[in-house]
Amino acid sequence: REQTAELVSRLLRDIPDFPEPGVLFKDITPLVADGPALAQVCEALAAPYRDAGITTVVGLEARGFIFGTAVALALGAGFVPVRKAGKLPGATVSLDYALEYGTARVEVHEDCVTPGERVLVVDDVLATGGTAAAAAELLEQVGAEVVAIEVVVELAALAGRSRLEGREVGALLTV
Ligand code: PRP
Ligand code: MG
Repeated sequence: REQTAELVSRLLRDIPDFPEPGVLFKDITPLVADGPALAQVCEALAAPYRDAGITTVVGLEARGFIFGTAVALALGAGFVPVRKAGKLPGATVSLDYALEYGTARVEVHEDCVTPGERVLVVDDVLATGGTAAAAAELLEQVGAEVVAIEVVVELAALAGRSRLEGREVGALLTV
């Protein structure tokens, strides 16, 4: 895990003032463009949950889809998307939340899990924690048990972990 943190740190690219002035964007595209790095990162995200009885991995649109699907394959679990408003075709439940920049609404299909199903939430970056908190709340609304939230990078200064107090949170790299 320590080696993976070093790898993530090396392949993450900081883009200043994106998507708006004052935000330092953590760009994962160099990391996912590197085949061995992508495999190592997805393996490391899945590793703590090998024996956790995870039946579903939830990926948060859009960058959480990249890692979430790979983690689902590694765990032999299914994949469920949490999407931004208006993208899912079936009946949904939704939640509005504040983002580091602006506000957003996320949705899941109301029948995306069977009650009591053990889910792992995966995303690329934990910043303020708003996205992950909204996703976890939605999943509980539809009957899931949220076992943990696992991310590639945690931005400690934005205190996402405190917004997720009482939840299990893992990060490959904390900056
Ligand atoms: C980014 C990132 C996380 C979220 C973290 O997604 O991929 O999902 O913000 O921020 P938070 O902890 O403050 O909620 P973004 O909404 O930029 O969209 P994208 O994944 O579709 O690029
Ligand atoms: Mg995102």
